[in-house]
Amino acid sequence: MKRMSLADILFTQGFGTRYDCRQIVLAGAVSVAGETVTDPDRVFEPDHLVVTWRGEDWPVCEKAIIAMNKPAGYECSLKPSAHPSVMGLLPGPLRTRGVQPVGRLDWDTTGLLIFTDDGALLHRLTHPKKHVAKVYEARLAHALTDDEAEKTVAKLLGGVVLDDSPKPVAAKDARMLAPDLLELTICEGKYHQVKRMVAACGNRVASLHRREVGACRLPEDLKEGEWRWLDGPQAILGGGRG
Ligand code: URA
Repeated sequence: MKRMSLADILFTQGFGTRYDCRQIVLAGAVSVAGETVTDPDRVFEPDHLVVTWRGEDWPVCEKAIIAMNKPAGYECSLKPSAHPSVMGLLPGPLRTRGVQPVGRLDWDTTGLLIFTDDGALLHRLTHPKKHVAKVYEARLAHALTDDEAEKTVAKLLGGVVLDDSPKPVAAKDARMLAPDLLELTICEGKYHQVKRMVAACGNRVASLHRREVGACRLPEDLKEGEWRWLDGPQAILGGGRG
């Protein structure tokens, strides 16, 4: 990005209207490298710039990519119907700059949810033909014996027929982590896909958690409801792929 005034930089990052951004700076709410900057017209090189606002560091970036540990009880829809939207867990500037969830998790599913305002990345991650792997841990309502577990895993890997498509859907990987805990890797993002695949095997998902999307694993120290910046598309697409 070319050199810009601090107010214009804040504008590109979702801090409000151009007027709002000038006011934020004039009010002394923004600092750069530890120095409070009160001149909205002071020019900076935006690349690798970090601005501090309300005590929080904001890396200035052309496109925002965020990982959240989604709690249960939130819908991924921008217009939720029965539960609050995950968007409410993000600070104003991220919402204003137009980040949106990449794909959807059910309201009761927890775990890794990516947000971005990068349209190309959103498309890359959600397009059915792009085959981005998603790893889930599904707690099963009925614990399985060794024999049942073997049959369930074989069925999931071989493909199960779901009610919205005659073509069987196969897991990319499936394994039991415990008699009632299934790790399932899928590449599609069909509606209720994990729950329906498990139901097709005669069981039920009691709770569902997403651990990984592509190369990105939910950071262990990211608590439910918290979010974190990711370091560019490669954090999800992995090195060399894309
Ligand atoms: N599959 C489901 O059934 N639910 C989710 O939230 C995600 C995948």
